[in-house]
Amino acid sequence: MHAIGVDIGGTKIAAGVVDDDGTILAQTRRDTDPDDAASIDAAIADVYRELSASYEVRQVGLAAAGFVASDRARVLFAPNIAWREYPLRDNVAALIGDEDLRIVVENDANAAGWAEFRFGVGRDVQDMVMLTLGTGLGGAIVVDGRLTRGAWGVAAEIGHMRVVPGGHYCGCGHEGCWEQYVSGSALVRDARAAAMTQPERAAGLVALAGGSAQHIDGPLVTRAAQAGDALAVELLAEVGRWVGEGCASVSAVLDPEVFVIGGGVSAAGDLVVAPARKAFDAQLSGRGHRPEAGIVVAAMGNDAGMVGAADLARV
Ligand code: BGC
Ligand code: NA
Ligand code: ZN
Repeated sequence: MHAIGVDIGGTKIAAGVVDDDGTILAQTRRDTDPDDAASIDAAIADVYRELSASYEVRQVGLAAAGFVASDRARVLFAPNIAWREYPLRDNVAALIGDEDLRIVVENDANAAGWAEFRFGVGRDVQDMVMLTLGTGLGGAIVVDGRLTRGAWGVAAEIGHMRVVPGGHYCGCGHEGCWEQYVSGSALVRDARAAAMTQPERAAGLVALAGGSAQHIDGPLVTRAAQAGDALAVELLAEVGRWVGEGCASVSAVLDPEVFVIGGGVSAAGDLVVAPARKAFDAQLSGRGHRPEAGIVVAAMGNDAGMVGAADLARV
């Protein structure tokens, strides 16, 4: 049976028709404004209409970048989107107006992690943690083959673990959250800052950005690093170091078999993962006396949220 998965990020939504095996049969996308929640509802209804014109679909999974309640209907809070106690499922259902359609809201990183667990690099393990490095830092926890949702639905909000007392401000209102050191936003913030504080070393990055530091984005830093730009390599390695140190702490709590690194920044591959591995090894308690988790790049790229949301809408 086909289901539609919709991945709702800060600035865009991506939707697809997905079959039981996680294969995407058709997809579409829209740009959205994170400050205008109603326009996001409308865009979701719109992609549903477009895709359901050609496919018979009875389930829709919405992967939302925020704290999703255990009723799988409301977004309680989102650091990077204007959702507060937001009845996302009911709003979208009202716009679509089909009472037989099942609509389920999931956290975006939980959806991505579920897709990796079912169809991607987590296929053969029972205990894994996924990190999605995009606008924010998302997390998914699979324990014993099951997604951990917590008492109120908001387990695995690992991006908001405090890693630096008095550190960078976060969209959640606190300081020093892991997300502020491990995300595309953190990478871009540090790259733009380097353009100011280390103009000579940043000359290559700024040139790639057409001469304006404000136009530096994450993919640009990755491209520069792949071409050997020393500052870009360093910026990605710094993200990787924070990944590894945080994962060592997470291992103390969950002892997963594998950490799956996804989201836009994971396109940098070993430029992030190798430094992550090194920092993880350096910080892991009891190292040498315990088996060590792997740290691997996600297999499903940007489609993971969409595929996982569709799959979770069936169960
Ligand atoms: C949000 C999470 C979300 C993650 C990735 C974080 O800032 O708190 O709910 O999963 O970003 O989008
Ligand atoms: Na999550
Ligand atoms: Zn935070």
